Amino acid sequence: MSGGASSEKPATAIIRQIARDICNIKKSGGKIAVVAGPAVVHTGAASALATLIREGYVDTLLSGNALAVHDVEAALLKTSLGVSLQEGTAAVGGCRHHLMAINTIYKAGDLKKAVEKGILKSEIIYECVKKGVPFVLAGSIRDDGPLPDVITDTVVAQKKYREQLKDVDMVMMLASTLHAIAVGNMLPSTVKLVCIDINPAAVTKLLDRGSTQAIGVITDVGTFPPLLAEEIKKLKGKTS
Ligand SMILES: NC(=O)c1ccc[n+]([C@@H]2O[C@H](COP(=O)([O-])OP(=O)(O)OC[C@H]3O[C@@H](n4cnc5c(N)ncnc54)[C@H](O)[C@@H]3O)[C@@H](O)[C@H]2O)c1
Repeated sequence: MSGGASSEKPATAIIRQIARDICNIKKSGGKIAVVAGPAVVHTGAASALATLIREGYVDTLLSGNALAVHDVEAALLKTSLGVSLQEGTAAVGGCRHHLMAINTIYKAGDLKKAVEKGILKSEIIYECVKKGVPFVLAGSIRDDGPLPDVITDTVVAQKKYREQLKDVDMVMMLASTLHAIAVGNMLPSTVKLVCIDINPAAVTKLLDRGSTQAIGVITDVGTFPPLLAEEIKKLKGKTS
């Protein structure tokens, strides 16, 4: 039971410790990056992550096309790839929602303009734009669209990720093997990493890259941001 990453760990206690670390880093003026995959939206955790961004616990967001597209769909139509985030069932006409989300952003110009024009009014990207939190979306061969904000030149995207990771004190990696490993490879081993993934292999792969301060939590990302936001709220309540 002494292994670093296992599904048989007291998740709530680990999340409480992560909340303490986040509060301490922010108290001392530190920088926190979030790397997030589309499962954050699919599992209904986008609003909790949006809350963390709004409340100033996220300084930069690194992701790809999917997270942003699904986030836009969730904000505009309350579905993710056509599945109702309230009901968990396929929405009527939901098969069109993904493309509607992409086309809406194209019509607006880009994600920032969609917020400025009052089209995008909630969720992750909205809070980033409102709060001035930079986001970098790296392209991949799997992308639909992609959104105009997506950097399709991988070398340029890698450079932009590196710029955002400068002086970072902690990186939270939420359900994205591709971007989590990429970011792990860009960081010195001393940066605190928190990797949340349902697949132990994704977490092990990251930890094997040599970070000495990595915490791996094998769990559903749908429950992590809401529990984390709750623990941070409790800590804030204690100190105010
Ligand atoms: N429609 C699109 O445009 C589209 C769709 C999907 C992916 N993409 C792009 O493809 C690239 C790779 O995508 P990716 O990062 O999703 O793939 P990935 O396979 O690299 O990472 C997905 C990770 O999410 C984890 N995961 C899945 N469900 C989870 C849950 N409930 N809780 C915790 N972890 C969970 C998986 O174990 C996996 O590690 C990205 O650039 C992405 O933007 C585009």
